[in-house]
Amino acid sequence: MAKQDKSWEKRLSGSVDELAVDFVQSLSYDQRLYKVDIAGSIAHAEMLAAVKIITKAEAAEIKKGLLEIGETIAAGKFKFDKTLEDIHMAIESALIKKIGAAGKKLHTGRSRNDQVATDIRLWMRDEIEVLLTRITRLQSAFVKSAAQYTDDIMPSYTHLQRAQPVTIASYLLSFVEMLARDYSRLKDCRDRLNVCPLGSGAVAGSTLPLDREMTAKTLGFRDIKYNSIDAVSDRDFCAEFIFCCSLVSAHLSRLAEDWIIYTSAEFSFITTDDAYCTSSSMMPQKRNPDMLELIRGKTGTVYGSLMAILTILKAQPSTYNRDLQEDKIHVFAAGDTTNACLRMTAAIVSHTTFNTKQIADGLDEGFLDATALAEYLVQKSVPFRQAHGIVGSLVAQCETDGKKKLGELTIEAFKAACDKIEQDVFETLDPAGVCKSYQSKGAAGPRDAEAQIHYWKGKLKEQ
Ligand code: ARG
Repeated sequence: MAKQDKSWEKRLSGSVDELAVDFVQSLSYDQRLYKVDIAGSIAHAEMLAAVKIITKAEAAEIKKGLLEIGETIAAGKFKFDKTLEDIHMAIESALIKKIGAAGKKLHTGRSRNDQVATDIRLWMRDEIEVLLTRITRLQSAFVKSAAQYTDDIMPSYTHLQRAQPVTIASYLLSFVEMLARDYSRLKDCRDRLNVCPLGSGAVAGSTLPLDREMTAKTLGFRDIKYNSIDAVSDRDFCAEFIFCCSLVSAHLSRLAEDWIIYTSAEFSFITTDDAYCTSSSMMPQKRNPDMLELIRGKTGTVYGSLMAILTILKAQPSTYNRDLQEDKIHVFAAGDTTNACLRMTAAIVSHTTFNTKQIADGLDEGFLDATALAEYLVQKSVPFRQAHGIVGSLVAQCETDGKKKLGELTIEAFKAACDKIEQDVFETLDPAGVCKSYQSKGAAGPRDAEAQIHYWKGKLKEQ
């Protein structure tokens, strides 16, 4: 068997199997942690100097060396050697090669266990900032689009059956609210994970007088992690992050599903710019909503990562186990996919128009005004359950008589169903009129849509 000489494996015989080298490495995917790894190492070295474990000159040498390594990596000139396993060892070994003796002191009072836990937190803090910005941009795209459609009516659906008339603006604003919850969930997640494990070492901390508060402060953490045993093994925040991404994806997939349906010839509610469609290799006429389908499909990818991280965490013995190395695969995948989907959705929302005329022409279908008619009867002192029954029978009567809408019934037919009905009933039966008469807060009429647009415009500016 071949031999190798790893600085951190003098206890082992040095025998190497290529298969194991490939199997154990995470460098191929954790190299993207290089910036945060270097930031963590510089903070650690400065702390070691502050508590006089190394000299100030050594810390300065370490810092300079690490910054240069960072530049080499950024320039794409760094040679990643997979036998070094991960980004932590790759950088440390490059540092030792570069500056010699001082470099060998960097890992004092530290293990890769607390190092990697720190790195993921630092990386995720930045990633969440990016996702928050993406969410805000998507919300703004929805609000901007909604502002164009405060007086345009569309059918709402429950069970994908026509329900009640709503303004297109209100429909669009429903996504702004979903995204607001995603925003605050991610913010909470960021706040909870923003504590520093560095100084917890491999599991039990260190006999050296490390100043953990100092490194935490330098790295912008709001606190330290207080139990070293938990600090090296806690990946709750990874599961939480992927869960947050999963709900973002759920919301985006709902929009995608709606709009895939809305672009079909049967609906023709919206037109999305050709840039977000593809054609078919065989059927020349096709205009397929592939971007929306991919947004819907990628939800599966994110959910997969959620299931994976939860399963990786299940029943691991205390404390750090190499299983945890797999965490990053799923954290990165969920972050990247969610980021890409948020971007794509914002682009699509900004380049989609509602075919208001086509939608308006179809509003007579589906008895959208039936609930409003029942509420008209309530206002004439008919108990709601009775009113519901009267309107239900009227709908059935229309269907038997081949009438498409309640407004086609004569006043006599209405009066026969309920003598409290008067001529003014016809004002209640127009979907736009129904929307205008919505009174409850948060209802899907033009008044509330305007108010919500006003609210979100102010709120999004603060975000
Ligand atoms: N690459 C490893 C990970 O991502 C770093 C920690 C390895 N620690 C160890 N003691 N083997 O989890």
